[in-house]
Amino acid sequence: MPTALITGATAGIGAAFARRLAADGFRLILLARDAERLARAAEDCGNAEVVVADLATDDGLAKGEEAARHADLVVNNAGFGQKGRFLQVPLEDELAMLRVHCEAVLRLTHAALPGMRERGRGGVINVASVAAFFSRGTYGASKAWVVGFSQGVAADVPGVHVMALCPGFVRTEFHDRAEMNVSGIPKPFWLDADRVVADALRDFRKGVTVSVPGVQYKALVGLGKLIPRNLAGRLSSRTGRRYD
Ligand SMILES: NC(=O)c1ccc[n+]([C@@H]2O[C@H](COP(=O)([O-])OP(=O)(O)OC[C@H]3O[C@@H](n4cnc5c(N)ncnc54)[C@H](OP(=O)(O)O)[C@@H]3O)[C@@H](O)[C@H]2O)c1
Repeated sequence: MPTALITGATAGIGAAFARRLAADGFRLILLARDAERLARAAEDCGNAEVVVADLATDDGLAKGEEAARHADLVVNNAGFGQKGRFLQVPLEDELAMLRVHCEAVLRLTHAALPGMRERGRGGVINVASVAAFFSRGTYGASKAWVVGFSQGVAADVPGVHVMALCPGFVRTEFHDRAEMNVSGIPKPFWLDADRVVADALRDFRKGVTVSVPGVQYKALVGLGKLIPRNLAGRLSSRTGRRYD
């Protein structure tokens, strides 16, 4: 039975990955900080293994690496948003974001790939965002790194598949946790987490390297590539002020 490690598995997109991969017959290792929620999620998925870890800490990163060594599929999904513009966000929160969004993705991928190559199977899905293509603040920059990193590793390491998943707005706890006001986001721009995961796994099986679920977001990302990056950044910054 193949094993999947999912970080940030207690809510939103990570919980949707857990439900779907359990149904697909994976043995699960679920990682997050909240032990009680992890225990409940593990029970819902048929007694998955849990790892209580904060990926913004050295200890949590080491626990994540250890779990990744035994996984056939790693879903680097844990992440969070930040309200406000650059100088309004405490520096320590920005640094924590880089650890969770970039260092954890790098270290868990690095820990997982040798075993996957040895076993001749496996893969990594790194959850980035459409924000990767419209850089705004540390969040967009960190997700742009996830996309570039995944593309680089996919080219460098044959025999395993590495994919960046770039969703747009998904109904999860993400925006509430960051206290963002997203009431102005038009309905057609909201995605369902289960649907995002179904699209992601279909793209993953097809060997896609950068997956953008939803036709509306495929069009937006396509458009974003046609306009100068500076302009895309300015437009994104102006749009972002609405969530303050
Ligand atoms: N929702 C969106 O609109 C959207 C759009 C594009 C991309 N994304 C990306 O999708 C991923 C999942 O987000 P989501 O929307 O599903 O958010 P969510 O509902 O808030 O879930 C976040 C998950 O990450 C875990 N987590 C947060 N910080 C962590 C840390 N330091 N260490 C370990 N686990 C941590 C949380 O559990 P604990 O609190 O228990 O640790 C939770 O399980 C993120 O990478 C996010 O950037 C989301």
